[in-house]
This record gives sequence, structure tokens and C-alpha cells, in this order.
Amino acid sequence: MDLETVDKLLTTARSVRQRLDLARPIDPAIVQHCLELAVQAPAGGNVCRYHFMVVTDPTKRAAIGDWYAQAFAQVYTEPVLAERRKTHARDVASWVYLVDHLRDVPMLIIPCLEGRPEDDVSVARLGGFYGNILPASWSLMLALRARGIGSAWTTLALRHEHEIAGLLGMPANVTPAALLPIAYITGGDLRPAKRVPARERTYWDTWGKTK
Ligand SMILES: Cc1cc2nc3c(=O)[nH]c(=O)nc-3n(C[C@H](O)[C@H](O)[C@H](O)COP(=O)(O)O)c2cc1C
Repeated sequence: MDLETVDKLLTTARSVRQRLDLARPIDPAIVQHCLELAVQAPAGGNVCRYHFMVVTDPTKRAAIGDWYAQAFAQVYTEPVLAERRKTHARDVASWVYLVDHLRDVPMLIIPCLEGRPEDDVSVARLGGFYGNILPASWSLMLALRARGIGSAWTTLALRHEHEIAGLLGMPANVTPAALLPIAYITGGDLRPAKRVPARERTYWDTWGKTK
């Protein structure tokens, strides 16, 4: 395995928003191939209860874009945004860009699960529920990224899950887990992010005991 390439992929798998190429179409065959790679990921009991809703229709993308903007406005009111800008100005600019342009992103993918999370669900069942879709979805994003196609894990639109389900004809017994805007990446390489070093969050044998 070419570790240099693999490590570069993993360290530069950024959320792409402002550098999504809104004008360049994506060959559905490439996305389907990446989905075939993605379903190699584990799923609970080896039962694949996931589905991938791919949205390219401009009218449907526009509707989802409007709901996304509404959800963003609910969560990120002007005072909240002003506060976040003090420390995360670049992030905020990127979030707002996506709000303004989601409808123009050529493809949206909604990873979906069969079933609904129960109310008052146990940690084990909730972990098992979302665990069925998260590995495959992240593999999808990495497979796309390796082909120069960017995306971002987003969940704000799920506030309008029922409207989205109605728009796309999704059955009531299906749960959308995320909304991934998909487009070719413009410009040069993406860079590793600044994160808390994992060793500060890694405990060996006893909680809090770092090496
Ligand atoms: C559970 C989850 C939900 C997220 N929801 C959104 C979202 O609704 N909109 C958005 O623009 N980004 C969303 N993000 C992306 C994060 O904001 C992003 O990963 C973070 O800003 C770090 O940036 P990076 O991925 O470029 O390193 C979400 C990420 C996760 C893991």
C-alpha cells in the first residue's frame, strides 16, 4: 500500500464548500463506482440496511437548498454568527457560502438507513443504528476525494427531513443520516487541519491516562 498517498488522503479530507466547482458536471458512473467501494465498509450483522439517495434534479436541489438555509438561520442567528466569527471567521465564511450555494451544487447525496431511531433508545441500539451507515458514508467521501471530488458532512438539512422525504418519495420508515454536497474541487491541494493532537485524547487502560 502506498502509505504516503493514503496518509495524504486521510489528512486532507477537509469539508469542501467554497471550493466546490458548481459548473462542472459529475459523471454518475464515477459516483456509482465510489458507492460500490463505500459498501465494502462494515455494517451491523453484515446486513446492509443502507440506501443512498442521489439528487441531481435542479428543482429538487433548489428546494433542499431553501430548507438548508432555513435550518441554518434557525441555528446560526446573527448574534451566534457574530460570536463564532470572533474565533472561526474562516469557518463561518465557508458555512455561509454553502448556505448561499447549496442549490447550485451539482449533486447531493443523502445516506439513508432502513428504520427509525427509537425514542429513548439505548446507547447500544443508537450506536448500532447509525453505525450501519457512518463507515460506508465516510468511505464514500474518501473515495470521491481521491478522485478530486469534494464534499462536506452536513446535518442541518435533517431538520427538514420530512419535507425532504416527501420531495424525494422516501418511505416513512427510512432515516436520512446526512446530506453530502458533491462537486469537483477547484484550486490546489487541501491542507491538514489544526486539531487537538490525538495523543491528548488517547487513554491507555485507564480513562485520562495518556502515554
Ligand atoms: C455530525 C456533523 C455534522 C455537521 N453538520 C454540518 C452542517 O450542517 N453544515 C456544514 O457546513 N458543516 C457541517 N459539518 C462539518 C463540520 O463543520 C466540519 O467538519 C468542521 O468545520 C471541520 O472542518 P473540516 O472538516 O474542514 O476539517 C458537520 C460535521 C459533522 C461531523
